[in-house]
Amino acid sequence: MSESRAKAMRLADYQQPDFLIPELSLEFELDDHQTQVIATSKIVRQGDHDRPLVLHGEKLELTEVQINGQAVQPQGSDTDLTFASVPDEFTLRIVTRIDPANNTSLEGLYKSGQAFCTQCEAEGFRKITYFLDRPDVMARYQVKITADKARYPYLLSNGNKVDAGELPDGRHWVRWDDPFFKPSYLFALVAGDFDLLEDEFITQSGRKVALQIFVDKGNLHRAGHAMRSLKKAMAWDEQKYGLEYDLDIYMIVAVDFFNMGAMENKGLNLFNSKFVLADAAAATDEDYFNIESVIAHEYFHNWTGNRVTCRDWFQLSLKEGLTVFRDQQFSADMADPAIVRIKQVKVMREHQFAEDAGPMSHPIRPAEVMEMNNFYSVTVYDKGAEVIRMLHTLLGEQGFRRGMDLYISRHDGQAVTCDDFVQAMQDANNVNLELFKRWYSQSGTPVLSVKEQYDQQSGQFTVALHQHTPPTADQPHKQALHLPIALEVLGTHGSKSQVLSLTKESQTFPLGQFETKPQLAVLAGFSAPVKLDFKQDEQGLLNTVLYAQDPFLRWDASQQLISEALHRAAEQGQTVLSDNLQGLFEGVLEFAPEQRALAAEMLELPSFETLAQQRQRIDVDALLNARNALKRLLADRFHPQWQALSASSSQSYIYEADQVQKRRLRAVCLGYLAHRQDQSTLLQSAYTTSDNMTDTLAVLKACQQADHPLFSGLMQDFESRWQADSLVMDKWFALHGSHQHKDSLAKLQLLTSHAMYSINNPNKVRALIGSFAFYNTAGFHALDGGGYRFVTDYLLKLDAVNPQVASRLITPMLGFAHLDDRRQDLLTQQLARLLDNKSLSRDLFEKVSKALK
Ligand code: PHE
Ligand code: ZN
Repeated sequence: MSESRAKAMRLADYQQPDFLIPELSLEFELDDHQTQVIATSKIVRQGDHDRPLVLHGEKLELTEVQINGQAVQPQGSDTDLTFASVPDEFTLRIVTRIDPANNTSLEGLYKSGQAFCTQCEAEGFRKITYFLDRPDVMARYQVKITADKARYPYLLSNGNKVDAGELPDGRHWVRWDDPFFKPSYLFALVAGDFDLLEDEFITQSGRKVALQIFVDKGNLHRAGHAMRSLKKAMAWDEQKYGLEYDLDIYMIVAVDFFNMGAMENKGLNLFNSKFVLADAAAATDEDYFNIESVIAHEYFHNWTGNRVTCRDWFQLSLKEGLTVFRDQQFSADMADPAIVRIKQVKVMREHQFAEDAGPMSHPIRPAEVMEMNNFYSVTVYDKGAEVIRMLHTLLGEQGFRRGMDLYISRHDGQAVTCDDFVQAMQDANNVNLELFKRWYSQSGTPVLSVKEQYDQQSGQFTVALHQHTPPTADQPHKQALHLPIALEVLGTHGSKSQVLSLTKESQTFPLGQFETKPQLAVLAGFSAPVKLDFKQDEQGLLNTVLYAQDPFLRWDASQQLISEALHRAAEQGQTVLSDNLQGLFEGVLEFAPEQRALAAEMLELPSFETLAQQRQRIDVDALLNARNALKRLLADRFHPQWQALSASSSQSYIYEADQVQKRRLRAVCLGYLAHRQDQSTLLQSAYTTSDNMTDTLAVLKACQQADHPLFSGLMQDFESRWQADSLVMDKWFALHGSHQHKDSLAKLQLLTSHAMYSINNPNKVRALIGSFAFYNTAGFHALDGGGYRFVTDYLLKLDAVNPQVASRLITPMLGFAHLDDRRQDLLTQQLARLLDNKSLSRDLFEKVSKALK
């Protein structure tokens, strides 16, 4: 790692650009190895200075440069191109060559299968041409694409198609014009041969928008759900926020090689095909849900991200936190809001709390960044959305909408900051949000301590709240935050809900007068992203499970009860089914037939990752054993109930709420049944009779988790059936990767040479190696160090191919503070091996060097 690449950028050092580029014309002559890019731009000096023009550029071959038609010779380096002195206003023409077929980083222009495509966020445009590749430089784009017509019948870019023509040599060209100013990260180009699904949407003001979804040939029948989702999202944003689409065409292209989920390029979204393609046979209910939410997310970016964009990348949460919040609201409106909320909270507790507790801890608006790609994090996205949700809770539905209206009207067409957003919320509502702003600059997970007090004499019930945020790797000192605390008081005459506003370290709130001590339940709807420290007896928690109004509180109480039992069992080395735990499961099983979805969530044990975040130190083996032992005890104790509830229905598959809930509950029941030896016939028949991927995968997962003897046979059958289907095979790879089995490393090694596996495809890497590192607890944390070594060996290879994917994969190796000394040692050794690699990417260098500090 060279010194210069290890340097961090700081938010405090932000400066306005020295030059602006209001106009850009791009001409592409596409070729696998020798693509030519002619960039002609109008450049204007900003302010009174004589500083040089420094353009970003990486991995470009420069063939020609002209200023106002005159050849010039700028100074080039690995990362930029410097023009010592330039006129105040001029035309710059730059011709470069690039090699898309060898671009394995999947950033810039690259090939996904047979198609050309681009990915420019955050700083990928500089791999296409020399430019001021920063979001506060916005241009009007005109794009001309030329390519072989037979192989690339579709040539796409942002905006409107304005012209097209043919060349005598079998090539053709298309010209695109995007009327909206945009930053370079929103540029996109696609060239390829696809099947095309077309539809249209009439906006609230009566304009007709053409909708097009491009998928690989043969996949047309799998694009319908994505199209329906898009139309729902478009209608929802009009109805909820009054926001209408602004171009005449909206295109989505599904590609197999993609570093992330999807990308909101103006008028031309690029999607990882797993977030577009679905049919009953090949996709699960979860896939259907995710597609609807990602399609909506990218669509919502058109206003929150594109029309109003970020001034600099430190402000990433301005568009991501807000857009995740918007897609969460949308999902809640489309499905069961409580279940949707539980899903989001699981992500926070499993992944975001872990990030904040590890070496990469950062506020939702980071102050210092070495590699921007490392900050597309659960903190910026999901904690960012929690921060927006708290604003929504504090301002109310209408107040929040007033703030949004002002934000959009005030900043349309601008590149702005998180402060600008909060300012708009504040101005529209006449409130003071100074204290609230700390959420943007302070990292870490606050611990909220709750003490209740009941005065027998007067009947007064009060609650004392205290907040404390432990120091994090990036910030030793913490301050009090503004926390909205939603709670329920369950008295003999029903329950009362309210939201307290905690603005100091400690505050006491009166909650009213009661004849007998009521039951208190805190953090309804997970109203703030905190850890709760509230000692309640098990009987109280049971009451909350059965009688609270907020389904989230009911679920949370069930999880607390189970979590405490599991930690106790791990500490004592003995797992028992206590009366209270038994009472919990009896109670939930009783209402399970009426409240299937909620019951399913309650009946499922908290994940190992969630449990791990609840203690300073954990004993991996003891906790894992306790969790498995409890599962077996419950499997036996409630055997008849699992069987009754897992009876399959004869309906054929539709993705609709009632069916989804049934399948979900059934999957949880199968998960218990697989822990008994006498259920092979039932499991086998559940597999054989399934007509959809949700039920099929439920059986496979149940067998995998229980290490049931049926597992390997079913997996073989599944492979022979689906071996040609790339997306479905990812599910198969993931099941192998996370299978906690004594031979799992050998199996993993073998699978890296499977015909469908490729280190160049991020979906494959995440499915196989990612599942191992993130979810194969026993294998990854094996005490002989084999798991850590395997992942490290793989990272060394992967980093040279695709540093962005490598950098995500290293996550489970970073959060080791709560592991035992032996494992910490083993991990440190492996991280040191990585750091020894002189050509380590900046992505991995940032994480590894922080972890070893
Ligand atoms: N901006 C994309 C989204 O959140 C994510 C993304 C980031 C995709 C960087 C690709 C590269 O929707
Ligand atoms: Zn986004």
